[in-house]
Amino acid sequence: MSKKVYIETLGCAMNTRDTEHIIAELQSKDDYELCDDAKSADLIMINTCSVREKPVNKLFSEIGVFNKIKKQSAKIGICGCTASHLGDEIFKRAPSVSFVLGARNVSKVSEAVKTEKFIDVSIDYDESNYAFDDFRTSMYKAYVNISIGCDKKCTYCIVPQTRGDEISIPAELIVQEARRAAKNGAKEIFLLGQNVNNYGRRFSTKRDSKIDFSDLLNMISEIEEVERIRFTSPHPLHMDDKFLETFANNPKVCKSMHMPLQSGSTHILEQMKRGYTKEWFLNRALKLRELVPDVSISTDIIVAFPGESDADFEDSMDVIEQVKFEQIFAFKYSARPLTEAANFENQVDKEIGSKRLQRLQSRQDEILDLISSSRKDKIYDVYFEELRNNGMVAGRSDNNALVQVEGGEELLGTTRKVLITNPRRLALYGELVK
Ligand code: SAH
Ligand code: SF4
Ligand code: F3S
Repeated sequence: MSKKVYIETLGCAMNTRDTEHIIAELQSKDDYELCDDAKSADLIMINTCSVREKPVNKLFSEIGVFNKIKKQSAKIGICGCTASHLGDEIFKRAPSVSFVLGARNVSKVSEAVKTEKFIDVSIDYDESNYAFDDFRTSMYKAYVNISIGCDKKCTYCIVPQTRGDEISIPAELIVQEARRAAKNGAKEIFLLGQNVNNYGRRFSTKRDSKIDFSDLLNMISEIEEVERIRFTSPHPLHMDDKFLETFANNPKVCKSMHMPLQSGSTHILEQMKRGYTKEWFLNRALKLRELVPDVSISTDIIVAFPGESDADFEDSMDVIEQVKFEQIFAFKYSARPLTEAANFENQVDKEIGSKRLQRLQSRQDEILDLISSSRKDKIYDVYFEELRNNGMVAGRSDNNALVQVEGGEELLGTTRKVLITNPRRLALYGELVK
């Protein structure tokens, strides 16, 4: 009889894909099957995130909860970015943990479950050519990694220390994987990397062909069964004209762009080592709005980075006014170990950070209400992916708005025209156009 693995996934889409890889490995090599109840599992894993402090603090209390409810014989394994960053400190603080596997060592999971006190958190291990077995959580949308690691050294960010240097995955492997997923019914391919539009700068072996991200998008769009291509995260620094034009002109590339601003102040951007200015960011975002009138732009913003003055914060607010993002993920700066900014002297008072975050979010709510109400009576092509328990089916428009209509399973995996009748801040409700 198969053994059961329960796995909790925190963090970003890369972690979601790593979890799928872990499940695939355990299924094919060790006869595990996925379960959704930790109490009955033979193996409990937490795929951790380290990007901000809070979830890291919660890790050990969570392990404590699993210790209480788990079967006596069940093992606990910790993987992901916090595993990379804390390493064997995890064993010391939580002796019940039987293995620790870094974010760049996912392919070793089968060895890890069979070895007592296994640990590998090396960040120079190269998994860019590893052929993982197939496991997908969604039938309709397939995550496909295009690179591992990150070559930027943003001063606030721990990711380069948990995922190591950036290496691009060979294009033929990416295309093969996308083709296989699409043949199995995933009409949407979602490309993943920390810096997707830096694709092609470094491969693990020397290659003659010089393929960049725009070329890769075009190659994937040639797969007949692929209807939609999305990606995250691109970096504003690498948004050259070729990239913006490919984005605009390739009809299979969905018209939603994540443009992580981080700060609107050129001075703070310098301190963050982001490599662009406020003007460059505005130029790119406004050019994008010009090239693709119905584009939606999302962003990440950090408030209260060390040294952020009132005037610097106003610069972030100014970019929000000018670009009118469809979605903002805003975070209060969190000092992270192994990062440069943690040692900066001028840390901003937490109260000031909370006030700035609140102001930013309430202004964004107002902007979003205006954007949502302007979508009334519009017709969108919606790709349906998920049943909701209130008799509704949810999907995404090409420009990434969450749309819900009444309906059932018959809509899943299909793209239908929807008339928006009741636009709300978090979702647009509508009716199928017959
Ligand atoms: N490679 C992606 C970011 C991955 S981390 C990019 O460059 O956009 C996701 C987001 O977490 C970042 O965009 C940033 O806004 C936020 N973040 C990273 N480190 C942080 C920190 N120390 N404090 C607060 N937010 C942080
Ligand atoms: Fe972190 Fe910067 Fe790399 Fe993004 S680009 S993962 S923010 S170091
Ligand atoms: Fe992702 Fe968190 Fe690691 S955002 S890269 S899982 S630190």
